[in-house]
Amino acid sequence: MKKILFTLAMAAALPLSAQQKPVYLDDSKPIEERVEDALGRMTLREKIDVIHAQSKFSSAGVRRLGIPELWTDDGPHGVRPEVLWDEWDQAGWTNDSCVAFPALTCLSATWNPDMALLYGRSIGEEARYREKDVLLGPGVNIYRTPLNGRNFEYFGEDPYLTSRMVVPYVQGVQSNGVAVCVKHYALNNHEVNRHNTNVIVDDRVLYEIYLPAFKAAVQEGKAWSIMSAYNLYEGKHCGQNPRLLDEILKGEWSFDGAVISDWGGIHDTGQAIAHGVDLEFGSWTDGLSNGAANAYDNYYLALPYLKLIQEGRVTTRELDDKVRRVLRLMFRTSMNTRKPFGSMCSPEHYAAARQIGEEGIVLLKNEGDVLPINLEAVKKIAVVGENAVKMMTVGGGSSSLKVQREISPLEGIRRRVSGRAEVVYARGYVGDASGEYNGVVTGQDLRDDRTPEELIAEAVEAARDADCVLFIGGLNKSAGQDCEDSDRAGLELPYGQDRVIEALAQANKNLIVVNISGNAVAMPWLDRVPAVVQDWYLGSEAGTSLAAVLVGDVNPSGRLPFTFPARLEDVPAHQLGEYTGTRTQDTVNVRYNEGIFVGYRWADKQKKTKPLFPFGYGLSYTTFEYGKPTVDNAVMTADGSVTVRVRVKNTGSREGQEVVQLYVSDVKASLPRPVKELKGFQKVRLAPGEEKEVVFTLRKDALSFFDADQHRWVAEPGKFEAIVAASAADIKGKVAFELE
Ligand code: BGC
Repeated sequence: MKKILFTLAMAAALPLSAQQKPVYLDDSKPIEERVEDALGRMTLREKIDVIHAQSKFSSAGVRRLGIPELWTDDGPHGVRPEVLWDEWDQAGWTNDSCVAFPALTCLSATWNPDMALLYGRSIGEEARYREKDVLLGPGVNIYRTPLNGRNFEYFGEDPYLTSRMVVPYVQGVQSNGVAVCVKHYALNNHEVNRHNTNVIVDDRVLYEIYLPAFKAAVQEGKAWSIMSAYNLYEGKHCGQNPRLLDEILKGEWSFDGAVISDWGGIHDTGQAIAHGVDLEFGSWTDGLSNGAANAYDNYYLALPYLKLIQEGRVTTRELDDKVRRVLRLMFRTSMNTRKPFGSMCSPEHYAAARQIGEEGIVLLKNEGDVLPINLEAVKKIAVVGENAVKMMTVGGGSSSLKVQREISPLEGIRRRVSGRAEVVYARGYVGDASGEYNGVVTGQDLRDDRTPEELIAEAVEAARDADCVLFIGGLNKSAGQDCEDSDRAGLELPYGQDRVIEALAQANKNLIVVNISGNAVAMPWLDRVPAVVQDWYLGSEAGTSLAAVLVGDVNPSGRLPFTFPARLEDVPAHQLGEYTGTRTQDTVNVRYNEGIFVGYRWADKQKKTKPLFPFGYGLSYTTFEYGKPTVDNAVMTADGSVTVRVRVKNTGSREGQEVVQLYVSDVKASLPRPVKELKGFQKVRLAPGEEKEVVFTLRKDALSFFDADQHRWVAEPGKFEAIVAASAADIKGKVAFELE
């Protein structure tokens, strides 16, 4: 015994390097053992230090033990440039320009999980190369209102589509040893009053609509961290929320990663200790200038926490749990010795951005085959609109980027048609000429003092003697136009764009409207415009992707991930009156009166309100024909499945991709259910004349609803229908089956 003690004492006196590797540094040991070992070596103060920020985007490691700092960065469309230690201003580095990938709405519009994996891998490589440990994204909040300023950072209105797309994104990022931080958990569905909105929903709505994507990211994607939202639920901020964090996330879903607060989302030490948040970021101290020695010591989970422990008012039980989670996150990322090195601005990343952009663009209307632009006949193209030239990677809030390059739509079109057609440009309207976010400047001077009349007159003149006209407008990520911390004022296009479009439609019948946005917009001119394209914020290769679709190098295959309503009143959140648009300091209760009837679920229920464009909708330059769907076995046993088959044929003259959608309808239910819900989709590529069989497998979970009283998912025996469709409003065939 004496000898052992003596050896231990000797070992402690030796420097780390001369000893046998301690368990926490031995990567042949399981992570849990290493976590316990590291935890056992840490002092109380060291534990406190790793659970809150030490700068805008980093938190401390344990210097004494050689455990590195943890570095986070936004997300989700590219890796944000370096800011100063304590300020949001640019650090002024010259090696932090990234590739901007398309916004998540575009990724979702590809309806292609392979694109999500490619996206995740590529952005993860960029984050890794920049030595980031945690990428702050993706966002998976459900699209509840087209006014939400952050919809472009999310995957649309459907929990199933969002879930299927988020899982490969998570896996792709984390294959680089970089953690995702899935945000904003939960119910952060608009921006106005985001710090003091208290969302009221019942459990069925929560579990069926607002939680599935988070659950999929955690359980299937194995996300290593999650970001709590700013808003409140059950009267408590999401970062200190017993129900969301303790009961559901860490309890029901067995999440073993770290909960990171949204920046400034923590408000109380006691609550933050007791409920769920593990790593506090962005609390509103005044950087280093306003603290005793270090203002980060003033964080709720810093010295105030230490004091409570030292006074014996709380034990270290919660602290140890938080530290374990942070250590686990570190072992998976910063201390992972086997991770790849990553890469930045590689040709592969640009190619990925371009391909995802091309697959996400949605062709909304194409009468008289104005598209693709036929370069045999079209010799002069008039391009009109600010979004044809405006750099869109700067702006929008925390997802704003500093890019190595961004190809604008005008530039992309010019390059593509060069030598074949002449391109003339007219501004058409003036929107946002600022071009700056947090010190990143686009360098573009978009100021223009001309009156709207002068701008329209110039555009009309250009349109008159062109063979075809491209109006490229929409929103632009400035405040109130698809931007964090503000919502849109209405569904209409801003800056008088409708007037410009009407004037162009009169001047030239070959008008193509390209709408760039992350949200639905009103289109009062739709009847007078033959072709409409839904473009998104496509990032670095924006112009290349758009031009490829416009001239037909790429056959459009994107489908809408959310409904385009004809009027704002057709959106249930607005029709039923609980969307709070006025800024206030006090807590605002927002009751989600529409319940589970979000997006197409509402359009289906209402019947008479026809959307402008339904969920899942999108055209192609070719045509597809569907056979009659069949089921292999018309009766599903409780633990069995039903196989649905349908043949799809390309009946046009060029290759294209169709998104075959499978919805399920519960024919007779004991409680109100949506008319149908998306439960499967597949994107199939077909050569002209080619036919393929598409096969779906449905299990009981696809038939279930959440029974709030019993607190479990229930599938009621009886009749169901499998509905094969090309959009929520374009049903191709139905086939009945039963659950035993
Ligand atoms: C946003 C988060 C973001 C964080 C850090 C917050 O304001 O809501 O999405 O990750 O800032 O920039």
